[in-house]
Amino acid sequence: MNDPSALTADAVEAIGKSQTSAELERIEVEYLGRKSGHVSKLLEGIGRLSADERAVLGKAVNEAKRMIEGALAARRSQLEATRLADLAETEAIDVTFPGRPLERGQIHVLTQVRRQIETVLESLGYQVELGPEVETEWFNFEALNIAAGHPAREMWDSFYFGPGLLLRAHTSPVQIHAMQRIKEPPIYIITPGRCYRRDAPEATRLPYFSQVEGLAVDKGLTVGDMKGTLLFMIQSLYGRERKVRVRPSFFPFTEPSFEFDVSCGICGGMGCKSCRHKGWLEVGGCGMVHPQVLRNGGIDPSQWNGYAWGFGIERMAMLKHDVDDMRLFYESDLRFLEQF
Ligand code: PHE
Repeated sequence: MNDPSALTADAVEAIGKSQTSAELERIEVEYLGRKSGHVSKLLEGIGRLSADERAVLGKAVNEAKRMIEGALAARRSQLEATRLADLAETEAIDVTFPGRPLERGQIHVLTQVRRQIETVLESLGYQVELGPEVETEWFNFEALNIAAGHPAREMWDSFYFGPGLLLRAHTSPVQIHAMQRIKEPPIYIITPGRCYRRDAPEATRLPYFSQVEGLAVDKGLTVGDMKGTLLFMIQSLYGRERKVRVRPSFFPFTEPSFEFDVSCGICGGMGCKSCRHKGWLEVGGCGMVHPQVLRNGGIDPSQWNGYAWGFGIERMAMLKHDVDDMRLFYESDLRFLEQF
């Protein structure tokens, strides 16, 4: 082939039909290759031509080269644009696509109630004090004036690891730990924590549960101070319209001892199905700290006195949220737990 414009037309046609950059490269070599490309070959016999003819052919060849190069570049950018468009189609990230929501946890209702109780009592100056769940018999019983063989031990039927070591049956042993640690009254502490008793799980009792104990040791404390504290706590948690009453009871570690009740939130104390027509709901035990218990904690009962109370957090949560079965708190059923 020795006609530059026919050659150019062929090249441009081939370039236009090419579909890949590899194909384009082959065409480029075929036409513009330095040694054996069609365009170089056009110049093969140039030595035999006259100066004028040489100039004409040279110009035509340069023109052909320029045209072919231009066509190659144009096709190359066309192919690249198509490749990018395809890529955008197949591998696109849609930034407006809604994300997959993360499963959000929440605070367990018993923890919520415990924290509310802590916040209320901390506002009165009480500090949180924690104690061990594995206790010696001395801290769980003897130090609290419950001698071996005392019939009151029936109230705290316990899990034993062996002689003298058990899972604490109430948070009252932390009273003794706190008095021994702090030594110098005044002492104002609350001790939230897990307790264990040998009870079969039922709607109103569990073998493991949580209590909050309160202990105040100071000078000249009265039952009135104790009752005022309980009333403040109950009203802060349940509302200003609630009332508190104390009824005489017995605990070996308090004298006098009481049970304390809160007025029913549904009937306001008139009596209804929810409070079994009593108008009151039982919350926990309380009383003035027995002098022997102060002594066991290393505190002189001729100088100081105190009051203490204890109640179950599950029970408080049941009253607050109108739950009628304690077991629900521990069954981890999200349909139940997500309500709070
Ligand atoms: N520890 C008692 C119980 O578990 C409750 C209580 C605490 C009573 C403090 C009086 C004073 O039943």
